[in-house]
Amino acid sequence: MKLDERLKAVAGHMEGDSVIDIGSDHGYLPVYLILNGICSYAVATDIRKAPLERAKATARKYNVFDRMEFYLSDGFCGIDKTFDTACICGMGGNNIVDIIEKGKGKFRRLVLQPMSKGEILRKYLWDNGFVIKTESYPVEDSKPYTVMLVLTGETPVGYTYNDLFLGKIKPDDNNYRLYVKKVLSSAKKRYYGTKNPEDEGLIKECLNLTEKQN
Ligand SMILES: C[S@@+](CC[C@H](N)C(=O)[O-])C[C@H]1O[C@@H](n2cnc3c(N)ncnc32)[C@H](O)[C@@H]1O
Repeated sequence: MKLDERLKAVAGHMEGDSVIDIGSDHGYLPVYLILNGICSYAVATDIRKAPLERAKATARKYNVFDRMEFYLSDGFCGIDKTFDTACICGMGGNNIVDIIEKGKGKFRRLVLQPMSKGEILRKYLWDNGFVIKTESYPVEDSKPYTVMLVLTGETPVGYTYNDLFLGKIKPDDNNYRLYVKKVLSSAKKRYYGTKNPEDEGLIKECLNLTEKQN
């Protein structure tokens, strides 16, 4: 089984004996993890029945059904276990925040991939003492994504307005520059409407970062 660049980046951060993929949909990630020996057992969940059935179908197709557990659930609700790594990917930042908040104490590490509102997710994580250990920026079909490996902590982490949108780890590579261009485009749209000086500062930093392009 082959994963696209986005899910491959997610898989690269998964580890531990107990892993859960929340909002698994097609179930590609947990099945890939088992097939590739990254974990021996995995839990897949979804809030909707049809996606969960898709995950079960993928598990059957690749003969790993008996090495998985499936839950129809909202986030961690009703799952009375703790996990080494929980993956919450392919959803909006607000939804991911809600799932983490309700599931506190049920995971040691998180792998997160927001489809939107990355700034809301980073703010929540830093305000609540989580540590964004790494952030990578896979590109699939010319679209940049962000994938975060997050560890639990206790002390809130300081940040600037720009950090919320650009992250603190700023790789000097073209994938990141593509991500910055996406941030720049939304910052410009916001700025034309509100003239918020913080967005003006963000636009400047985006331009500096994208100018470095080789
Ligand atoms: C776009 S799919 C992403 C699938 C996969 N995680 C990926 O990244 O390719 C999002 C899935 O999350 C599910 N979902 C949304 N909110 C959820 C929640 N609170 N708890 C569990 N699943 C949720 C949706 O039903 C949908 O199947």
